[in-house]
Amino acid sequence: MSAARFASEGPLRGALQPPPDKSISHRAAILAAMGEGETMVSRYLDAADTRSTLAAIERLGARVAETGSADGALELRIRGAGLRGARGCRIDVGNAGTLLRILPGWLAGQEGRRFELDGDESVRRRPVDRVAEPLGLMGAGVTCVDGSLPPIAIVGSALRGITYELPVASAQVKSCVLLAGLLASGRTEVLERAPSRDHTERMLRAAGVEVEAADRGTIALLSSGRGKRIALGPVERIEPGEIEIPGDFSSAAFWLVAAILVPGSQVRVEGVGLNPTRIGLLGILSRMGAPLEVEAEVPLPGGEVEGVVSARYGPLTGTRIHPAEVPGAIDELPLIGLAGCFAEGETIVTGAQELRHKESDRIDALVEGLRAVGGDAEARPDGFAVRGTGGISGGHLDSRADHRLAMLGAVAGLASREGVEVEGVESAAISYPGFEADLRSLV
Ligand code: S3P
Repeated sequence: MSAARFASEGPLRGALQPPPDKSISHRAAILAAMGEGETMVSRYLDAADTRSTLAAIERLGARVAETGSADGALELRIRGAGLRGARGCRIDVGNAGTLLRILPGWLAGQEGRRFELDGDESVRRRPVDRVAEPLGLMGAGVTCVDGSLPPIAIVGSALRGITYELPVASAQVKSCVLLAGLLASGRTEVLERAPSRDHTERMLRAAGVEVEAADRGTIALLSSGRGKRIALGPVERIEPGEIEIPGDFSSAAFWLVAAILVPGSQVRVEGVGLNPTRIGLLGILSRMGAPLEVEAEVPLPGGEVEGVVSARYGPLTGTRIHPAEVPGAIDELPLIGLAGCFAEGETIVTGAQELRHKESDRIDALVEGLRAVGGDAEARPDGFAVRGTGGISGGHLDSRADHRLAMLGAVAGLASREGVEVEGVESAAISYPGFEADLRSLV
């Protein structure tokens, strides 16, 4: 691992387009592989995680042709293996937890074929019982190490539809069960308590699948946000046709927060995905007082929507993030912790125990990192609390090879008084290969 130092370089100014969305890129490749005929995927993320997904679908029998490449985005023509045509094989998912959790849904329905999914050291610590359990209930043979960890072995079987209440609000688990539902007999229903990202549902609809989604309006659920009941039935084939991937809101979030924290800054992020289930950060930052503007929302082939978000420097007040807000801002919660160091009063995140199961334990890693750069932060079992102290001095932040913490460290450095040395900065390339170049373009 290498370290790099980031220090105040004055205001951030300018416009940029973030890299293509990682979550949506994984789904585009998987659905194209499940599809009949050719799918054209435009602006596929060219990064380590999403390269793992392309390699995986090729092993499963899809054919991938790169027809263009510019600024970290690939143009792809993918010939699918077909819904029931995946070849048995072993797959290395690298560091990609999303691939590890979503792909088994498709593989579970490949009758009589065997698969094994394994990955790097960090992936081997990420629980997969959350997908093994529902797939087992649907009739697949799924085993993992000590009942919960990769490698995960799957024996494809004839599946039956189930009604499954998600024990954790996880878009990965929801997506996995829905993909298996396409191959199952009868209807498959997923019940969630708080709305998680709906990229899979949108992309399936665009590929010709009828996906029902209804609010679960019980009194208990209304008080904690509106979860959904998502249902679909088996299909013969899917035809994605054309998918265009918007810019990654989670990558854009680093520049939005940097602009808010560094005096004099004004940043405009263009071509960024504005799916309402992904942009919880905007509501939270607005509540903290941040000057943000959203404009020009454009629908894209494949079911997503993109637009422009502008942010500028402004004072913040602390806030409390409730459990129902967590899924819509899950990957941005560490950035809210950093913003909390600059806000007046306390910022408290609750109901976010899922952060402990990301590329690192993001509760411990964040709190340790913020303290190491002069912040006043405390870990809790299900989140963290940060007391604003008017900013951070600086120091040494260990990213624990977690891409989002490495980029957070760089933003912390830009906003700090004395600079931050970030350990493991190269892991930014997992989701954002052009991160440092984009940073240079803004300072
Ligand atoms: C993702 C869902 C979230 C998120 C992850 C990507 C997805 O994970 O943290 O970065 O693509 O569905 P969970 O589903 O585990 O909450």
